[in-house]
Amino acid sequence: MTAIAENDTLEAAVPAGVYAETVLSVTHYTDHLFRFRMTRPDGFRFRSGEFAMIGLMVDGKPIYRAYSIASPSWDEQLEFFSIKVPDGPLTQHLQRIQPGDKVLMRKKSTGTLVLDALTPGNRLYMFSTGTGIAPFASLIRDPETYEKFEEVILTHTCREVAELKYGIDLVAEIKADEMLSEIVGDKLRLYSTVTRETYPFMGRITDLIENGKLFADLGVPPLDPATDRGMICGSAIMLKDTKALLEKAGMTEGANNKPSEFVIERAFVG
Ligand code: A2P
Repeated sequence: MTAIAENDTLEAAVPAGVYAETVLSVTHYTDHLFRFRMTRPDGFRFRSGEFAMIGLMVDGKPIYRAYSIASPSWDEQLEFFSIKVPDGPLTQHLQRIQPGDKVLMRKKSTGTLVLDALTPGNRLYMFSTGTGIAPFASLIRDPETYEKFEEVILTHTCREVAELKYGIDLVAEIKADEMLSEIVGDKLRLYSTVTRETYPFMGRITDLIENGKLFADLGVPPLDPATDRGMICGSAIMLKDTKALLEKAGMTEGANNKPSEFVIERAFVG
């Protein structure tokens, strides 16, 4: 078979309404977590914080899962942060991708973790657990976040210390980047905690909100609907519990068509 014929076969296998993009890099953090970057199709537009359907051809059939786009809307590449599930229909295959491989992406992105869904405020909290940090990895690299908010606090809670590395490296990269660091200045703060190992900051974010330790550690006042806005991304139970605490503080949930004081989205599982 000639190279051209092989390409024809690949193109023919890509379903309509789907991009087939090239993997550029893959970074493995733990046995359960990895990041990959791929080419961004010409004409693919999204808002920072949105998710897209990502997939692979498996046995001749496409398999998709929802993935938050972890890169900002201005980036010429697309980044994703994923768990690895040994028997996960998609991630058992996706975790083995290499630079040069093709990954499928449906053409439409969507989501509620967008700046448009929040009313104006001073301090933006982004509460995340596990791979729920991904949409915030996008938003903290978007200059619009810093045009709209004076202070951005990203919380990331994981079971183990090694799982924090993606977020810690990301914030260090932002601070080292000549252009981004100028835009971000001192506005961005990362508050990382773990729940199942010893670490300087420990505990579930819900407990740390409830007992006030989060605010004491950061030296900020407790949640206030007049000044604070929130975005939450984690497991279903984490969303439910964190949302209840924000509501207790007098904040109401918003949506794309009805901006308000906080928004939530489930961290998707592969
Ligand atoms: P914990 O270790 O106490 O369960 P998971 O991988 O299960 O989604 O958990 C990711 C992180 O989210 C863990 O640190 C976990 O803490 C924490 N977590 C789990 N459930 C909740 C919840 N209901 N509220 C806040 N944090 C939670």
